[in-house]
Amino acid sequence: MTLKIGILTGGGDCAGLNSAIKWVTKAAVDPLLTAHRGEAMEVLGIRDGWRGLVEVDPGNPESLARWTMPLDELVVRTWDRHGGTALGSSRTNPFNPKNDQSQKCLDHIRGLGLHALVAIGGEDTLSVAHKLHGLGQKVVGIPKTIDRDLCETEYTLGYDTALNVIVEEVDRLRTTAGSHSRLFVVEVMGRHAGWLALEGGAAVGAHVILIPEHEFDLDRVASLLEQRRRAGVRYDIVVVSEGARIKGQGERYLSDKEDSFGHKLLGGISDYLAKQLEISTGYETRHVVLSHIQRGGQPSARDRLMGRYFGIAAVDMILEEDFGRMVALRDGRVASIPLKQALEKLFLVDVEALYDPIRYNCRRASVLPLSVRAG
Ligand code: F6P
Repeated sequence: MTLKIGILTGGGDCAGLNSAIKWVTKAAVDPLLTAHRGEAMEVLGIRDGWRGLVEVDPGNPESLARWTMPLDELVVRTWDRHGGTALGSSRTNPFNPKNDQSQKCLDHIRGLGLHALVAIGGEDTLSVAHKLHGLGQKVVGIPKTIDRDLCETEYTLGYDTALNVIVEEVDRLRTTAGSHSRLFVVEVMGRHAGWLALEGGAAVGAHVILIPEHEFDLDRVASLLEQRRRAGVRYDIVVVSEGARIKGQGERYLSDKEDSFGHKLLGGISDYLAKQLEISTGYETRHVVLSHIQRGGQPSARDRLMGRYFGIAAVDMILEEDFGRMVALRDGRVASIPLKQALEKLFLVDVEALYDPIRYNCRRASVLPLSVRAG
C-alpha cells in the first residue's frame, strides 16, 4: 500500500523551509527508511499554505495543477540551497472566525487522499494543524520562524540565517556610521520576542539593544550613547526590535489592518527613536529597517542541516503514527512534543536571566542560561 502525505509551508517565509520539504520528500520515498515498515509513500506539495487546502478542488485537474505539486527526489534535488519556500506560503487561517473554512480543508484532505499532513510553520500555522488534529486529522508539525518564539524547542528554522543577515548588514553599516560619526538605529524583526534583537545585537556588538520584553526609557538610551561618545567612540549602533516599547507607550504598527490570525504589522519604532535621539543627543542619526531582508537569502549551514534533521524526523513520526505533535530540538537532540505544548505560550526572552536593564544590552553572563520553556 502507498501512503500519500501532504506537505505545506505557512506564515512568513524564511530560509530552511526548502531543506525541510526536500528531506521530508527524500525520507518518505526512501525504500530503505520506509519499506521495511511495510509502507511506501508518495508526497504531495500543497501550494500557498492553508490557502492551497482551502482552494483546491481535488476532482479538477486544473485546480490540482494550480494548488498542488507532486514531489519526488528529482523535483526537490536542489531545493535546500535556496531561501524562501518553493511551495509558496500564505497567512490564510481556515479557522478565521470571520470566515470559517475548516470544513473545506477537511473535505479536501479526504478528496486528495492524504493519509497525513506535514505542516511547516510558526505559531499560527501550527495552531491550525493542532485544530485539524483535534478534528481527527493525522498531522505532524515542523517548527519554523525567524522570531524563534515557539516554546519547547531549542530551534526554529530560519532563525540562524536571519541572525547572520543582521550581522552582515550591521557590519556594512558600521563603516559608513564611522565615516560620518553617525548614530544608526537598526530595526529588526521578531514580533513580540526579542531574540533576534538580543542575539543579533550581541553578535554585532551593538551599544544599545532594545527588546519587547523590557520597556525602555528614552532619556536612559540617550545618556548611554552620550557616555560612549565621551569615552571617545565616534559612532554608535542601536539595535531595536520591531516590538520594543518606550515606557508608558504601546507597540508601533505600520497599519491597523489585522491579518486572518489577528496580527497587526509591527514597525516604525526605529524611525521614531532616531528622530527623538537626534533631538536629545544632537548626534546626526539615521535609521535602517532590515525588515524582510532578514527572511531572504541563501540558508545558512545550520538551517540546511536543521531542515534535513526535522524533515527526516517528521517522516519517522508519520511511520510511528505519532500525530498531533511537532518535531523539536531538545537538549541538542531531535525529539517530538505535543503541538498543544508548543503553542501554550510564546517563548520570550527571560529578562532576568539574559538582559541587562541598566546597560540596555545582553547580560554579561559567562554562560547564557537558555531555556526552551517560555518564561
Ligand atoms: O513572524 C515572522 C515575521 O517576519 C515577523 O518577524 C514580522 O513581524 C512579520 O513576520 C512580518 O509579516 P509579513 O510577512 O506579513 O510582512
